[in-house]
Amino acid sequence: MPASAAAIRTARRVDRFTYAIRNIVAEAKKVEAAGQKVRYLNIGDPNQFGFLTPPHLIEAVIRAMREGKNGYTPSPGIAEAREAVAADFVSRGVNVSADRVLITSGTSEGIELALTGIVDDGEEVLVPSPTYPLYTAVLAKIGAQPAYYRTDHTNAWLPDLDHIRSRITAKTRVLVVIDPNNPTGAVYPDATRKALIELADAHGLVILADEVYGDLAYDGAVPPMAALDNQAPIISYSSLSKAYLAPGWRAGWMAVGASPRLDPALSAIKKLADGRLCSPGPMQYAVTAALTGDRSHQVAFRRELRQRAELTTARMNAIPGISCVAPRGAFYAMPKVELPRGKTDADFVLGLLRSKGILCVYGSGFGTAPEDGFFRIVFLATPKELGAIYDEVAQFSRDFLS
Ligand SMILES: Cc1ncc(COP(=O)(O)O)c(C=O)c1O
Repeated sequence: MPASAAAIRTARRVDRFTYAIRNIVAEAKKVEAAGQKVRYLNIGDPNQFGFLTPPHLIEAVIRAMREGKNGYTPSPGIAEAREAVAADFVSRGVNVSADRVLITSGTSEGIELALTGIVDDGEEVLVPSPTYPLYTAVLAKIGAQPAYYRTDHTNAWLPDLDHIRSRITAKTRVLVVIDPNNPTGAVYPDATRKALIELADAHGLVILADEVYGDLAYDGAVPPMAALDNQAPIISYSSLSKAYLAPGWRAGWMAVGASPRLDPALSAIKKLADGRLCSPGPMQYAVTAALTGDRSHQVAFRRELRQRAELTTARMNAIPGISCVAPRGAFYAMPKVELPRGKTDADFVLGLLRSKGILCVYGSGFGTAPEDGFFRIVFLATPKELGAIYDEVAQFSRDFLS
């Protein structure tokens, strides 16, 4: 017999943990249960929209499984994948050796390992606003605080350097840079990247360079941030999820920059990685295949993305009361609605869901103020489907704003 019938108490840290991109799906399921079709523009998964994993990656995984490579791997990953990642960084101007590379369960695990390994509870991390929400979710888990810094939609969504400076305190440890950016689609010019590196250097901060969309800037792959300064304290990460169209495989990597200042961080991250044994073994063989094989799918993918970005920007800007900065990479746009007084971004997004069955994510799920009226669109559907969806967004917003 249980000592009490009361529900088991859960940890308080979970109360602070939110991940709007998936949390909002519960609302969409209610709409579906009521008989309405929902079009999901909330999750950045190219596979769900018909962009398929390149066959040579699939072959590499199948071959590994057939050859019996189904056991645990070394915690930092198989040697050949780590070497392929290091060689890829070297080819992009970053001098990093394989022993400073870890193969991870997606970029997500890299983010968690780096923050857990470097930041103590009570310390602070500079996170862009808007941000990819995993950063603040992990900070909630480890008891650290986000210090949001502004990225400015009136200036191509570039980081506001003065605002970053104003947010640095004695407790600040890390500067998160997401470039190309989710949720805004911004791509930072070199001058901005250099200024961020100088700023981090001046304050002894580690830069976490989230480069998961690095190969998906429409004008061509952008070099890793660390290529601008090989000795800067930068930890770079990316994965097979976006540019190699295999998000479900949970295969990614991180590279801890060559600076000896990062040696303790590398040891801490490796120690933590030992505890989770390894990332999925057969998928690690696909990392090698991806980084040493044919990448022509990226050219086609970038072309498709540019077309959808242009369509999205034009259609959003044509709606009275909505404005949208043109994305320059990835598959997201972050339009702004001029909300009626007293309304929030969630009112707009949930209204759109309930009346039209279109699911976007409200900006406050990425850290913007609810009254600022931002929402994020994932524009991976076909241009034809997007056109029909945007007709409905226009209708809905006319009603909502009238
Ligand atoms: C900026 C950013 N970082 C990290 C991730 C997580 O990617 P992964 O699938 O590699 O864990 C995403 C996924 O959408 C993302 O947008």
